[in-house]
Amino acid sequence: MTKIAVLVSGGGTNLQALIDAAGRSELAGGELDFVLSSNPEAYALTRAAQAGIDTGVLRRRDFADAEQYGAALHEALSARGIGLIVLAGFMTVLPDSFCRKWENQIINVHPSLIPSFCGEGFYGLRVHEAALKKGVKVTGATVHFVSEVVDGGAIILQKAVEVLPDDTPEILQKRVMAEAEHILLPQAVALFCQGRLHVADGRVTIDSKVN
Ligand code: GAR
Repeated sequence: MTKIAVLVSGGGTNLQALIDAAGRSELAGGELDFVLSSNPEAYALTRAAQAGIDTGVLRRRDFADAEQYGAALHEALSARGIGLIVLAGFMTVLPDSFCRKWENQIINVHPSLIPSFCGEGFYGLRVHEAALKKGVKVTGATVHFVSEVVDGGAIILQKAVEVLPDDTPEILQKRVMAEAEHILLPQAVALFCQGRLHVADGRVTIDSKVN
């Protein structure tokens, strides 16, 4: 059994996809143990409470610097025996020390095909605004391990999504969520919990069989 903590900041549709997958026993021994929000107003907290998952809030602004914020996060997650951290719309950049402590145990979902439209400043709707501005005809989502480089960790899964002529950032965001993020994230969590993900030279290989 792998205890999973989901870190959120907003609406929590990716959290909901994980809750729904858990309800269908699709997380392969992963258990949604804890939802931690950087924002006390996040609707994701309501989704967690409705699913009977313990919640907590740690606001970045209550800490002097990113290091202290990371230390508090580390404390809260290790105390619960967490084995996997999922960033699901978590809008606070984690300090390097935290990323190193949890190396290959943090996964993030990002709403583009990395390495396009990613890195510092590319989050939420901004990613889709940038994709539309560039005029790409295909975008998508990426689930990756988190490293010290923002959106630079080893890629686990990616899925392409079509961009349509009348898309607004909001419409495109919804399509990328429904057709890619909400499908890939539970899949990646299940692969992790089955011990099927291996990282070497900054790349992930996926075992075809469950050990
Ligand atoms: C999602 O699209 C997620 O990929 C994105 O924020 C949204 C959160 O939605 N994350 C990032 O941009 C991280 N760089 P949700 O709260 O409904 O899951």
